[in-house]
Amino acid sequence: MEARYQGLEAQEFFHVPVLSREVVTGLAVRPGGHYLDATVGGGGHSRLILEAAADVQITALDQDEDALAAAQKYLAEYGERVQFILTNFAAYHFASNTFDGILADLGVSSYHLDQPERGFSFRQTANLDMRMDRRQSLTAADVINTWDEAQLADIFFKYGEERLSRRIARRIVERRPFQTTVELAEAIASSVPPKYRYGRIHPATRVFQALRIVVNDELNSLETFLDKAPNALVPGGKIAIISFHSLEDRPVKHGLRNSPLLKVLTKKPITALEEEIQRNPRSRSAKLRIAQRVL
Ligand SMILES: C[S@@+](CC[C@H](N)C(=O)[O-])C[C@H]1O[C@@H](n2cnc3c(N)ncnc32)[C@H](O)[C@@H]1O
Repeated sequence: MEARYQGLEAQEFFHVPVLSREVVTGLAVRPGGHYLDATVGGGGHSRLILEAAADVQITALDQDEDALAAAQKYLAEYGERVQFILTNFAAYHFASNTFDGILADLGVSSYHLDQPERGFSFRQTANLDMRMDRRQSLTAADVINTWDEAQLADIFFKYGEERLSRRIARRIVERRPFQTTVELAEAIASSVPPKYRYGRIHPATRVFQALRIVVNDELNSLETFLDKAPNALVPGGKIAIISFHSLEDRPVKHGLRNSPLLKVLTKKPITALEEEIQRNPRSRSAKLRIAQRVL
């Protein structure tokens, strides 16, 4: 394993940071400030925060070893100003009154999607994995090949907002076991009506989203983060969260609004300008919400 991480080029991981100007402005990065990047990924946002003012310090988290290794390399020039921690942000110990700003840029990085062997993409053959943290044991293959039909239908509906969840779950149970992403995607495509099969998005998109959320327990981690993070801000400190679909944006919106410590600064979420969407299509679905600790 180790050799593989060492061989990983930072550029390979490089993740074009979305809404970067909006994040840096929104956090109002101040000289000598200490910031938490809860999802450092390739280090794109962290670098911009480090560059935004003098003597900024960052604590950088990621639950993916590859991401952390790449960020370490990409941010090496900042030396001890950046501290890297391999952890799920839900398991991080948030010390109170510590950070001038906190950023979470949720979900998987483009690197994850571009590395077929991680199993996040249905466009290239790979084992059904989808773990961001490969120290955990549950994989997408475990879910697909062992959960019962009703459980599968339930997660496809709940976490994929998939209308044809039952029909797809039935076909999967008939045809399993599945080894690879492409086999699964083909079985899903063959179980839906042609109109759906040739629609705007690939018919496996929603099921893959659901599997990713379940395998990484993403929504529970997000709830824990929303609960614990505000208290780690200094009074006046700001928290910025970028989400990519409504299942994430909804808890973010409510979590920020319902925290007794926070005042929401973005009545409506900030979204990418057309120019950014042209440059980086992934930014199309990004929503940024910002709040400030008031107590
Ligand atoms: C969208 S990318 C972040 C990209 C980063 N902002 C950049 O500019 O390069 C999301 C990253 O968060 C990590 N991640 C997702 N959920 C996490 C969690 N619960 N705890 C820690 N890291 C997480 C993923 O492994 C991924 O590297």
